[in-house]
Amino acid sequence: MTQTELSTKHVLGIKYLTPQDIQLIFETAENFKEVINRPIKKVPSLRDVTVANLFFENSTRTRISFELAEKRLSADTVNFSASSSSVKKGESLLDTVNNILSMKVDMVVMRHPAPGAPAFLAKHIDANIINAGDGTHEHPTQALLDAFSMREKLGDLRGKKIVIVGDILHSRVALSNIFCLQKLGAKVKVCGPPTLIPKYIKELNVGVEYDIRKALEWCDVANVLRIQLERQDIKYFPSIREYTQYYGVNKEMLDSLNSDVIIMHPGPINRGVELTSDVADSDQSIILQQVENGVAIRMAVLYLLAAKR
Ligand code: CP
Repeated sequence: MTQTELSTKHVLGIKYLTPQDIQLIFETAENFKEVINRPIKKVPSLRDVTVANLFFENSTRTRISFELAEKRLSADTVNFSASSSSVKKGESLLDTVNNILSMKVDMVVMRHPAPGAPAFLAKHIDANIINAGDGTHEHPTQALLDAFSMREKLGDLRGKKIVIVGDILHSRVALSNIFCLQKLGAKVKVCGPPTLIPKYIKELNVGVEYDIRKALEWCDVANVLRIQLERQDIKYFPSIREYTQYYGVNKEMLDSLNSDVIIMHPGPINRGVELTSDVADSDQSIILQQVENGVAIRMAVLYLLAAKR
């Protein structure tokens, strides 16, 4: 029987979703993608639902995408940014959120630098929580939109070969992608300097390739990640220039392959570091389709969680 509701009240990580949850989110997102391409893009599904977007860390894509998704669903929204709030005066996470919830908020979208912060909230408050990125832990809606975008290009992802390139150690996108792609039956490898590959990676049944050319020859899709210098407290490689020389993806490299690898990137891109501009802007790149699909995926997640209330 086809599943009609999510198995969970929150979306804290892909780890806690079933493959059936993921399929349901995709089917719902397909409908919403059709809706947001109509002349009238708004539906009343979340009328009278209030969503708080709590961003304790910088964001461009995720924040705008959630706000747009909420507006398209007719939700009421409140936006909170840590940099302009009383967090600066020492207010705790729980106090901040309880104060916002006392204004009758139903759902919380939260980005926070501390891994586990959304899970902590879910234990203490009644609202539905969506993790919009927690430190180096998970970024579930990014992985959902990434897999949805791959599926649009390749169909069923079972047996498809995906390589995640770059700073795996500091990336929440990498971990959520690994969980999501494996739940959908894809084969996953990571590629990057040994210092940026976490030791636990083999326990996740993920292959490791240190040679970018071999990784690109193997895969159907390369999801290229940003070097997260802001999370690196020590030097993990000699210089950006050397990183680019060994792990940067350029057009010459892509043109020398036997097949057209699909290029993805969650953004923000460091042009000329992990990707050259002619790769980021090439026909093989689906980076802007990822962003477009983000709105439909987030509409689906918000809609399905609201249905659990
Ligand atoms: N992909 C992503 O999370 O981008 P932002 O940091 O701009 O939200």
